[in-house]
Amino acid sequence: MSPAAFPGRFPTTRLRRLRQAPWLRRLAAETALTVDQLIWPCFILPGEKAREPVASMPGVARYSVDLLVDQVREAADLGIPAVALFPATEADRRTPDGREATNPDNLMCRAIRAVKAAVPEIGIIGDVALDPYTTHGHDGLMDGDTILNDETLKVLVRQALVMAEAGLDVVAPSDMMDGRIGAIRTALDGAGHRGVVLLSYAAKYASAYYGPFRDAVGSGARLKGDKRTYQMNPANSDEALREIELDLAEGADMVMVKPGLPYLDVIRRARETFGVPVLAYQVSGEYAALRAASDNGWLSYDAVMMETLSAFRRAGCSGILTYAAKDAARILAGSSSG
Ligand code: PBG
Repeated sequence: MSPAAFPGRFPTTRLRRLRQAPWLRRLAAETALTVDQLIWPCFILPGEKAREPVASMPGVARYSVDLLVDQVREAADLGIPAVALFPATEADRRTPDGREATNPDNLMCRAIRAVKAAVPEIGIIGDVALDPYTTHGHDGLMDGDTILNDETLKVLVRQALVMAEAGLDVVAPSDMMDGRIGAIRTALDGAGHRGVVLLSYAAKYASAYYGPFRDAVGSGARLKGDKRTYQMNPANSDEALREIELDLAEGADMVMVKPGLPYLDVIRRARETFGVPVLAYQVSGEYAALRAASDNGWLSYDAVMMETLSAFRRAGCSGILTYAAKDAARILAGSSSG
């Protein structure tokens, strides 16, 4: 048979042809990662001139507000469009009802105001959830061992309002209570914050990958039990689509899948089903695992990190929260690709 009898097949077709040289690989690339997709999560400490490394996240530190501002300025200068702030609340300000969450002068609100004033061009994302503020480390109010849904919503709404008043651009509920998106959207609109963006942690799984984060914000050691009655079962993805559908119906502007890499299938389904901006959170445990392996000389941090970020793009992500955001931004600035 002549090759023409097999149009589109070997040996006429050779997929390696387009992989021969960097310029061809660039032309044939289906997706691209740029700094525009990177969001840098950072941890805030009380006090001044304080910088504490997070032991379980090599390369990551927690900063007091004065030093945080310099860090955020650096992120903005690298072209990173947004940061996500997480407070390591003073232990004596934690209570069973997490009321510090609604204090307009809490660490988070002070950080939002300082960053807004010093680096106005960067977007600020803030979590809505009670875990930085509760003595039991859960995201909601408790009655015995039960997490109370509707009672928690009232506190979350007030938490969202104080952060919006402080200048937060993106309210990101990460608590997984039912109905919180609608409740928060209604309250924000009622208070005149119509432009505040709602990013829902819509498909947030009860994951063992959050361990280092809980160390960083000081909620790990105090966490009673686990979060499986509100965060999702890792076995499910149809349910993730239901979560996302409900959150969009309630007014979410963007949705998040979390953790990231183990849930690329969920990202892809979400993107194809709804066509809305889907963000991934490459969480603390994912970062720690790559970092630890590379610190042992078993993987190359730069290479595996860039490969994971590219995988998020291929899966359909618009944005990626990653502790490697600054590292990736520097690599992207230095490379012309290939
Ligand atoms: C709090 C929250 C968590 C993370 C982001 N927001 C932890 C949790 O739900 O226990 C995890 C982020 C990470 O691991 O990097 N609701």
